Amino acid sequence: MLAKSALQRAAAAPVRSALAKQSVRTVSAWSQVPQGPPDAILGITEAFKKDSNPKKINLGVGAYRDDKGKPYVLPSVREAEQKVVQAQMDKEYAGITGVPDFTKAAALLAYGEDSAAIKEGRIAITQTISGTGALRIGGAFFQRHYPNAKTIYIPTPSWANHKAVFLDSGLEVKQYRYYNKDTIGLDFDGMVEDVKKMPKGSLILLHACAHNPTGVDPTEAQWKAISDAVKTGDHFPFFDMAYQGFASGSTDKDAFALRYFLKEGHLPALAQSFAKNMGLYGERVGAFSIVTASPEEKARVDSQVKILVRPLYSNPPVHGARVASTILNDPALNKQWLGEVKDMAERIIKMRALLKDNLQKLGSKHNWDHITSQIGMFAYTGLKPEQMTKLAEEHSVYATKDGRISVAGITSENVGRLAEAIHKVTS
Ligand SMILES: Cc1ncc(COP(=O)(O)O)c(C=O)c1O
Repeated sequence: MLAKSALQRAAAAPVRSALAKQSVRTVSAWSQVPQGPPDAILGITEAFKKDSNPKKINLGVGAYRDDKGKPYVLPSVREAEQKVVQAQMDKEYAGITGVPDFTKAAALLAYGEDSAAIKEGRIAITQTISGTGALRIGGAFFQRHYPNAKTIYIPTPSWANHKAVFLDSGLEVKQYRYYNKDTIGLDFDGMVEDVKKMPKGSLILLHACAHNPTGVDPTEAQWKAISDAVKTGDHFPFFDMAYQGFASGSTDKDAFALRYFLKEGHLPALAQSFAKNMGLYGERVGAFSIVTASPEEKARVDSQVKILVRPLYSNPPVHGARVASTILNDPALNKQWLGEVKDMAERIIKMRALLKDNLQKLGSKHNWDHITSQIGMFAYTGLKPEQMTKLAEEHSVYATKDGRISVAGITSENVGRLAEAIHKVTS
């Protein structure tokens, strides 16, 4: 190799020093950030996408699908969107607590037209980033203002995000018994016993209906006993109502527990989501509310909720809330929407019955009654993790390892194949 001339060396020098500087800069501030585990549900979607079997079935995601297995936009939502666009509204900021027509209607939907708390102006409500945002605002509010221990009790099991939301809100998270894996049903005695054992004045999270992941809800009589136990312990109930209308097909029936607690004198908090019952998943429409003792107390709570929201995201997005508000406030659209919610719930109930029928026809020796006694989007099949792995690897049926399947992903076409796959891995 020829020796470089002094001129060539001089010309190369700035390049070399620039490279050296660049390599110094590549030591990033994030070089010690540990790799986090992948999201369990997204991992299932990835594995599903990679599978080349044309008959593969994805029962992992918690989103409604129509009987063709396709995402479903409710006709009432399409119509409301048209109305919102035609109204040519401006794009100014909403207030910190969101679109007032939306929050007013959301409260009526949850608490009921005849709610004394609404009539008396005692409900503090704010629009949130869907149900998750509502839970998070609730968690943050309790962390800052709840006068007793900052510990929240959630059921075992619960929606996977509950624990993370409340821990990140600065609360301690403990659990109470809920699901009995031997009966594949509610551990009612265990639950009530645990509620009674909690320190006086504990925060307790309750799934208002369509418990996720088990699909197991207390009966109305059991809710009454749970209300008594919560009252005796002076506990504070926080209802998560992510599926109003989705369980029974009736938004009133699904609000039974919440409304009963109010009648019994509780002053609960509530997280609402319009992701499932309006199919507004990605629009992120929800609400957080607290039932207070008086309009004066409501005003103080409102002011503190605003203080929490302002530095987090300032104010919520308007489009989805306008769509939901149009559906809730326009009598004809509202009627249409209630029918569509009912249709979605009924399709799910029908798929549960078909799956059980198919398993029985195949001669399965197991008792599959829980498939139809459970309610809402999910069924807790009772299948073990190794059976779920077999379902995926040998039958291209994908769902979470805890045995939960999204019934909303079952169709008239795939239910037979699904039953065969479940029968094979369980016999
Ligand atoms: C029990 C429960 N709570 C809250 C949520 C929140 O959902 P989102 O933030 O999409 O409204 C979900 C969603 O799956 C849920 O199952």
